[in-house]
Amino acid sequence: MSTYEELSAKLAKYKQSHLLRWWSELNAAERKNLATQIDGIDFRTLAALIDSHVMKRPAPPMPDTFEPAPFFSLRPANAAMEAYYDKATEYGESLLCSGKVACLTVAGGQGTRLGFDGPKGTYPIAPVTGKTLFNLFADAIARNQEKYGAKIPWFIMTSRTNNDATVTFFEKNKFFGLDRGQVCFFVQGTMPAVGYDGKLLMESKSSLALSPDGHGGTLWALRTSGALDKMAEQGIDFVSYFQVDNPLVPVVDPKFIGLHALEKSQMSAISLSKTGPFEKLGNFCTSHGRTWIIEYSDLPPELAESRNPDGSLRFVAGSPAIHIISRSFIEDLTANGKPGLPWHRADKKVGCIDESGAFATPDKPNAVKFESFVFDAMPMAERTMLLEADRAEEFAPTKNATGVDSAESCRAMMVAQAKRRLSVCGVDVSQAGLIEISPRRVVCDADAAEYCAKRGIKSVAGEKVYLE
Ligand code: UTP
Repeated sequence: MSTYEELSAKLAKYKQSHLLRWWSELNAAERKNLATQIDGIDFRTLAALIDSHVMKRPAPPMPDTFEPAPFFSLRPANAAMEAYYDKATEYGESLLCSGKVACLTVAGGQGTRLGFDGPKGTYPIAPVTGKTLFNLFADAIARNQEKYGAKIPWFIMTSRTNNDATVTFFEKNKFFGLDRGQVCFFVQGTMPAVGYDGKLLMESKSSLALSPDGHGGTLWALRTSGALDKMAEQGIDFVSYFQVDNPLVPVVDPKFIGLHALEKSQMSAISLSKTGPFEKLGNFCTSHGRTWIIEYSDLPPELAESRNPDGSLRFVAGSPAIHIISRSFIEDLTANGKPGLPWHRADKKVGCIDESGAFATPDKPNAVKFESFVFDAMPMAERTMLLEADRAEEFAPTKNATGVDSAESCRAMMVAQAKRRLSVCGVDVSQAGLIEISPRRVVCDADAAEYCAKRGIKSVAGEKVYLE
């Protein structure tokens, strides 16, 4: 730990001396905390970042020229493609059976839009039982383990602010029946929040205002936490990556995993048909043989609106943030330090202390947070693969409390999926209101058919139906 003099000299050099303003009032533990935080910052790099991303508005990371990226279509276009999809599914199943696949959930976000007090994964989302997001994923993992006869380790990225609450939640719920040892929590890195004057903000007299460094922090956090080594020890070759706020996601999808492996892809992604030119999904593009995801806000409007001769959108492929990533790719990217993902600027309201030391949360953005995005690793991969999926089956983002992409719309999609699954196996759902099917039993249509056949279910009725 640096001494006061060392800290003071360093901060003076980078015009951040205000961070030591209350030093004389702090006790030993508080001084240690503040000094450790300051020591953890690479001020030279940060100064350059403040210059490029706070004092100016950075140009988004974009390739010079790009085209819409090709993808494997949802439905095979011909018999040869159908056979290839079948082969991929079988191969993916064999990889699952031999324990080569782990799940990775990114759960370090702050979930400010949802406005829920607690880690987002502890949000009660299920339409009938109110099961939490974490519980649903745990159930789906347990069901897949049963199907493939092998453990599926689960890596969960948390942040400095929600790690303890997340771990306690799992402990209280006895890991939802999973083995304690198969769940590995790892904490992502932080970045200081910076006021518009270029000064770092303080959360208290002895602590900087630090925020999680974006889901791009996953790659480096896997390395620094030892989780990557753990994967290697466990023989994990493929990571099934998804976000904590999408309860419809198939936690493992044999076809997706199999195609990733057969195509020798390093990083693959699920792609969805966008509902309109400006839907808030990243756009899959290709440039000089590399795949990029260009944020919806960065794609020029004339390109977003451009159409093929048949009237369909040219840039139709949007990203729901579902990936398969090879462990070897993460190892390569992090072998010599941080993977060098670009930083994105986010203007946010950041609670901080003022010159008198009083804490306040502003009512409009007062600071810049720096975030990196995991999809910026895609152009770093020599080989990628995109697979189209059906939105109704895979993507129900829970971003807001009401309206678009909300808990409400997500529950409606979960009910619609349950009704569709039961209908295709001949069950009459016309007299049912809300239906929830436990992912502990059913994670695909075949499971639903087996479940209903075993129990002789021909119809379900009632305001709220739960199939356990
Ligand atoms: P979002 O971009 O939706 O951010 O994260 P958020 O923090 O959850 O929500 P808002 O923007 O404050 O309302 C997408 C996914 O990435 C994870 C989130 O937990 C979510 O699963 N994430 C995001 C992280 O794990 N770490 C981060 O630093 C940011």
